[in-house]
Amino acid sequence: MAKDPVRVLVTGAAGQIGYALVPMIARGVMLGPDQPVILHMLDIPPAAEALNGVKMELVDAAFPLLKGVVATTDVAEACAGVSVAVMVGGFPRKEGMERKDVMTKNVSIYKSQASALEQHAAPNCKVLVVANPANTNALILKEFAPSIPAKNITCLTRLDHNRALGQISERLGVQVSDVKNAIIWGNHSSTQYPDVNHATVKTSAGEKPVRQLVADDAWLNGEFITTVQQRGAAIIKARKLSSALSAASAACDHIRDWVLGTPEGTWVSMGVYSDGSYNVPAGLIYSFPVNCKNGEWSIVQGLSIDEFSRKKMDATAAELSEEKDLAYSCLS
Ligand code: NAD
Ligand code: LMR
Repeated sequence: MAKDPVRVLVTGAAGQIGYALVPMIARGVMLGPDQPVILHMLDIPPAAEALNGVKMELVDAAFPLLKGVVATTDVAEACAGVSVAVMVGGFPRKEGMERKDVMTKNVSIYKSQASALEQHAAPNCKVLVVANPANTNALILKEFAPSIPAKNITCLTRLDHNRALGQISERLGVQVSDVKNAIIWGNHSSTQYPDVNHATVKTSAGEKPVRQLVADDAWLNGEFITTVQQRGAAIIKARKLSSALSAASAACDHIRDWVLGTPEGTWVSMGVYSDGSYNVPAGLIYSFPVNCKNGEWSIVQGLSIDEFSRKKMDATAAELSEEKDLAYSCLS
């Protein structure tokens, strides 16, 4: 029997990530090839005409899974009955800007959209914040939507996770699909800590640790980390625009794994509300390694943390605490 359609909200849908993301969702990349969807697209009035153009293209693409499109500048209408909300709306960083510069503009959006989601989304709606500063926007959304369970509000660090897998695959000349269990700890910013201490590669002789195969700790503890941390800035420099197709693809990966589950023995990175695991301060949205099952994520426990990692995990937590204070000062 055909499944009932799921309503999926994309905010900032007239923007560049939105333009890459909505066809992926309509093709089943996010929720599976047998899951019909109704797309709810929100943008602001100056982008209304462009948003309508995206709607026209979605109609023209004749996606079999797409059962309806709502294109609106009304937040309440956009949030009505949605079970998945991908929050992309906001202002991107331009060349030369620090992420903190975009904070003032973006956190106030997340405060006001929190109430709309609380009032109009389906119960148990899963929320993914993509817009920067992603962790702190998600935290503000959580704090101003107290009736939405904290476990339902997450932010995107899957792009960083995928970037880490990509760098290892390039370095070793192996398929990216054979590399797994990298971890992004902390903030989606240049203080994030990409950690491959537990990552492995599938080889003809079984799974081997990345550290053993790369056999170059100086690279893994140096250039590898900075390349992943700075990849967003490198893309802005090259494209004069921030990453879009990879961000859209990572957003699909994040929701797909959250809803449909992670494969046995594999974890992914998600920005989630810290419960104090790994001595990360509770009350921050911090990226952890997670397993997903039955539509719920859980933080992978018991991984060994060496002194090098500890320092980097603490530094990115400290930045998130500062961002939280700054966000509140922007809102007051
Ligand atoms: P963009 O400027 O192309 O699109 C953003 C869209 O949001 C625009 O159409 C704009 O009109 C809309 N918008 C602004 N305020 C809004 C509001 N209040 N409600 C609804 N829509 C609103 O930007 P983009 O390149 O698509 O990037 C979007 C965001 O995603 C940026 O903040 C960017 O920094 C961030 N980003 C995050 C990641 C990540 O991995 N977390 C990766 C790439 C980009
Ligand atoms: C990215 O990681 O590509 C984005 O967050 C863009 C940015 O501002 O770094």
